[in-house]
Amino acid sequence: MAKFFINGKNRLCGEVEMDTAKNALLPILAGCIMVEGKVTLEKATAYTDVEAMCDILRALGGVAQRKGDDLEIDCSSLDKCELSHELASPVRSSIFTLGPLLARLGKAKVAYPGGCDIGLRPIDIHLSSLRQLGCKIVEKNGYIYAEKGKPLTREVFLSFQSVGATENIMMFCALLPGESKIYNSAKEPEIVDLARFLSCCGAKIEGAGTDVITIIGVERLEGCRYRAISDRIECGTFLIAAAMTGGEVKLENAVSKHNSALIEKLKTCGCLIKEGDNEIFLSAPKRLESFVDVETAVYPGFPTDLQPQIVALASIAKGCSLVFENVFENRFNYVGELLKMGCDIRFKSSICIIRGKDKIFGADVVSTDLRGGAALVLAGLACEGYTTISRVEFVDRGYFHLEDKLVQLGADIKRI
Ligand code: UD1
Repeated sequence: MAKFFINGKNRLCGEVEMDTAKNALLPILAGCIMVEGKVTLEKATAYTDVEAMCDILRALGGVAQRKGDDLEIDCSSLDKCELSHELASPVRSSIFTLGPLLARLGKAKVAYPGGCDIGLRPIDIHLSSLRQLGCKIVEKNGYIYAEKGKPLTREVFLSFQSVGATENIMMFCALLPGESKIYNSAKEPEIVDLARFLSCCGAKIEGAGTDVITIIGVERLEGCRYRAISDRIECGTFLIAAAMTGGEVKLENAVSKHNSALIEKLKTCGCLIKEGDNEIFLSAPKRLESFVDVETAVYPGFPTDLQPQIVALASIAKGCSLVFENVFENRFNYVGELLKMGCDIRFKSSICIIRGKDKIFGADVVSTDLRGGAALVLAGLACEGYTTISRVEFVDRGYFHLEDKLVQLGADIKRI
């Protein structure tokens, strides 16, 4: 099991290019299940979660192969509708296969998904929406057995703006004859990107990015070349890293409007930020001011996937900051590790109170999940002395060779 070894306090300076969004690639790969033809995904970053999703496509009878930076997927002869526990449990996104398998093959047997331990993460909204659309679903022995049937309605209302449920239902409806509508749909940029990808394959989808999505089912989807959007969470993580080290960075392939909520907070902390067409420049003050408070929310609110990183930032900013976690009920597991580094953090249920310190110190810490692990890396970069972070396989799920990009900006970090 790999570890990161960090010697802190180097200022991050320079330019670095952001990767393709993990959370865009995962549903797009599930969408490939419905495509009869070759899909080329340009610059499809090889996050371990993306590789796990490719294994899933292969197990279903599809072809997934790397061609340089691109990923070629061909599910023309996909014929299996079963996903075992071994394949489904490593990643949350395995549940995205349910809608596409039902759309393409009419039935599916899929084991429950896994993913980071950040809350209960039920899939009730996915299942109740598919039931409303006529699917018969039975949950038994750790599997979801589903079969396509006659829709009870073509208008589905989501009880929460779930990203994954919006994507699953949108994909299912792409091949369902007639017009379907998803009300109270999530509006994340990755949903807009999935709709754009499906449209490139011939789907008819309108309203992605608003809270009502209209889908007119088509008979078949055809292959295409596609480049997914850049990773706004990686971008946010690098902005926070630069801010925490008093750095000056230019991030390329970075869409500032996808990170408006974070950028506003970083400006409150005293950072100078210039937003270009496809790049973001940040220059940080010597000592950050408090951002006062942050509440995580669905897009365009402050992303829950940047909550651990902003808590790390608050730990070294001036004064007291409050962080409210409103999306996942168990997303403060990493806080105990930050305490080992001298951070002053108290939390109760969904609220964190952080008193910023002048100095925090290196320690041996353990990643608890993907973004919690990223927060430890940031604290390691900003603190005095040496930090060892174990279980970095969590971090690799959503950052590709994170240490190389940080070294490029002047950090002293290595994988051991
Ligand atoms: C996606 C992202 C994840 C991000 C999250 C919120 C991917 C692969 N992952 O996860 O990085 O943190 O959005 O922005 O895109 N819920 C239910 N029932 C359901 C579905 C969800 O109660 O059927 C709840 C969840 O437990 C959670 C909240 O809704 O509390 C948000 O979940 P959701 O938006 O579905 O997140 P994911 O799609 O799992």
